[in-house]
Amino acid sequence: MKHNLILLLLVFFCTGSFAQEKPLRNLTTLENNWKFINQEVAGAENPQTNTSNWETVSVPHDWAIKGPFDKEIDKQMVKVTQDMETEAKERTGRTGALPHIGIGWYRNTFTLPEFEAGKKALLIFDGAMSDAQVYVNGTKVGNHPYGYSYFYFDISDYLQAGENLLAVRLENPPSSSRWYPGAGIYRKVQILVKDEVNFQQWGTFITTPFVSDQVAQINIKSEVNGDDLKVVTEIKDAEGKIVASKTSSDQFGNLTELNIAVPDPNIWSIENPYLYTAHSKLYKNNELKDELLTRFGIRSVVYERGKGLVLNGEVTKFKGVCLHHDLGPLGAAVNKAALKRQLTILKDMGCNAIRSSHNMPSHEQLELCDEMGFLFLAESFDEWAKAKVENGYNRFFNDWAEKDVVNLVRATRNHPCIVMWSSGNEVPDQWGNEGVKLAKWLQDIFHREDPTRPVTVGMDQVANTLKNGFGAIMDIPGLNYRLPLYDEAYERFPQGFILGSETASTVSSRGIYKFPVEELKQKTYDDFQSSSYDMEACYWSNVPDEDFVWQDDFDWVIGEFVWTGFDYLGEPTPYNEAWPSRSSYFGICDLAGLPKDRFYLYRSRWNTENETLHILPHWNWEGREGETTPVFVYTNYNSAELFVNGVSQGVQTKTKELSKQHRYRLMWMDVKYEPGTLKVVAFDDAGKPVAEKEIHTAGKPHHLKLSADRESISADGKDLSYITVSVVDKDGNLCPNADTQLNFSVSGAGTYKVVCNGDATSLEMFHLPTMKAFSGKLVVTVQASEKPGEINLAVKGKGLKTGNIAIHSK
Ligand code: GAL
Repeated sequence: MKHNLILLLLVFFCTGSFAQEKPLRNLTTLENNWKFINQEVAGAENPQTNTSNWETVSVPHDWAIKGPFDKEIDKQMVKVTQDMETEAKERTGRTGALPHIGIGWYRNTFTLPEFEAGKKALLIFDGAMSDAQVYVNGTKVGNHPYGYSYFYFDISDYLQAGENLLAVRLENPPSSSRWYPGAGIYRKVQILVKDEVNFQQWGTFITTPFVSDQVAQINIKSEVNGDDLKVVTEIKDAEGKIVASKTSSDQFGNLTELNIAVPDPNIWSIENPYLYTAHSKLYKNNELKDELLTRFGIRSVVYERGKGLVLNGEVTKFKGVCLHHDLGPLGAAVNKAALKRQLTILKDMGCNAIRSSHNMPSHEQLELCDEMGFLFLAESFDEWAKAKVENGYNRFFNDWAEKDVVNLVRATRNHPCIVMWSSGNEVPDQWGNEGVKLAKWLQDIFHREDPTRPVTVGMDQVANTLKNGFGAIMDIPGLNYRLPLYDEAYERFPQGFILGSETASTVSSRGIYKFPVEELKQKTYDDFQSSSYDMEACYWSNVPDEDFVWQDDFDWVIGEFVWTGFDYLGEPTPYNEAWPSRSSYFGICDLAGLPKDRFYLYRSRWNTENETLHILPHWNWEGREGETTPVFVYTNYNSAELFVNGVSQGVQTKTKELSKQHRYRLMWMDVKYEPGTLKVVAFDDAGKPVAEKEIHTAGKPHHLKLSADRESISADGKDLSYITVSVVDKDGNLCPNADTQLNFSVSGAGTYKVVCNGDATSLEMFHLPTMKAFSGKLVVTVQASEKPGEINLAVKGKGLKTGNIAIHSK
């Protein structure tokens, strides 16, 4: 069944309201009843073939996420020069070891009763992975190679009365990505029907050139199709109340422009993400032809020398994270509830900014960032003309880069969250004069399409870009890592500030700790895990504290985007050649979304509203009795005292004197392990005890503790509840070493969706209702059906009392 969304109002208000017979715009989201086949199965080169053996799927869809994992998939023999490698090595899990390579076909039949003479129909894709070839009723209507781009086709001339057939061919070649790209139509597809006299697709641009507490200037440029048109725009506040309106009857070619004053504006900010809507109506000869709702925020964004981002008059440092687009066990198929959960977790950490590395973000993510108050750095490419991977974007760059940038900017520029664009990440074109020209060319395209926001590139070849002019022409010089060059870059680049466009790349596995505790680079262990003492990084990267020093001591360092907020599929550094590692270790949170210890280190400095007091490691070290087992505390307090079974281990105070870590962490390096209780008492700056926390050595696994991120969800067939399952002892203490095989069953008004335990080496599939706990935990995701009611999840494990939870779906 198709999901028809009538976007715009049926009722048209004027003096004495009357109901208009038909909506001016019809937006149909093609969600259900898609047919899909992998070409390997069918040899299905012709989209008109019989589809009896095709699978029925819904879109967004990721054809590869159900696996199985296979070492041979996209095994890349490469020398990764960005990783300072000197010889080619076999990288097994680089793109996630999931079956995303190959050709996939999708078909959908649809009818458009509202389409008639004098109308236009646009077929709009938010993203299709990749190299889309699109057919309507057997005729090719167009193609779009880049899997992360938004694109649309005018299909008015290809439609027929009654049923229409849409067919989409996608192809992912091997060696086309450095991470798991997903596969298929992983973002939404819509058909928009409107009058041929209309507001152009993505043709409306709202800016706020003047913002004060008393008044804001709202500038609205609309590109229109048709002559002698009049535009009437009403500005509505978040409650839908009209706060200002204006009419424009001047048209310059296909452009109309309005400047509207909004008195006493409610200004969009991180703390107050207030949104207005512009309701624009298009008239020809006083006949209403089209109308458009555009959500926007009123905020002022400027960048100043020595300060960086000044948001609404306040210097605002980026406390940001980089995110890949995959949603862990859900793969690349976009889901708003999954994105919202990520942002909720990041908000609690005090994070204020997201970088969509290294490509176009989903519209859903941008909408959420507008609503939740995140700044956004919207990136476009990981490659320009020079290759990082053989079949990467370099194949398309010359012909498509301008189009892809234009689509990115036009489709997203009304989002108040976006405060910066990025034209590339660590592009090898940083070398050579041609690359400098490309950098300028791309930046000029961004400026042409959006004169209000600056452009950056995440540069890793900093020494070279200092010499060849590449870094000097950027609006914002973005440095990926390369802390030792920060000083020189600030000194020699003309902009007067630098951005840590990518920082840290610390590696860790949730709940895993290694001894002795030391700062190490590219360290590997036999179990293919990394230590959660947060002391391990890559050759090119560093532990978080190193960045904190630069962020804190130099105003001209305008913030950072940590690699990464969440683990992602693929790129299992430092275990690139170590099967079965198949997902990253870089995340502040693991692939299941569970916070690693590092979460609390960032939280202790980024979340300035709430207390952070976190102890690590866990305290179950059978066999280590009497051995040195350092204890770290991540806290916003400056000092604390640690007790082992009531015996003081002394007071630690944050200090600049000893090491970078001592400035940000409280560390007791000589603690001897004995089972029992670890207790920390934190002091305020006057030396008064203000908070305490304990962890205990856990006994045997006894039962399961279930807790949901949301106990009440929407009965819309899409909403998700994430239930963290912990193996605990009889007193409720987490058993930190438990790896019990758990089984899940869901009944009632929802279905079992996926499970993930955050273990980067697990080959258990996410969509099957069984998985081992990892470090005592995993996360089960259940999905609402379209019927309201209770969703019941039961979790069973050998020798454990069954765990149950009920989620309400309304
Ligand atoms: C950076 C790169 C990222 C990721 C990261 C891992 O150089 O931009 O995509 O590969 O390294 O540390």
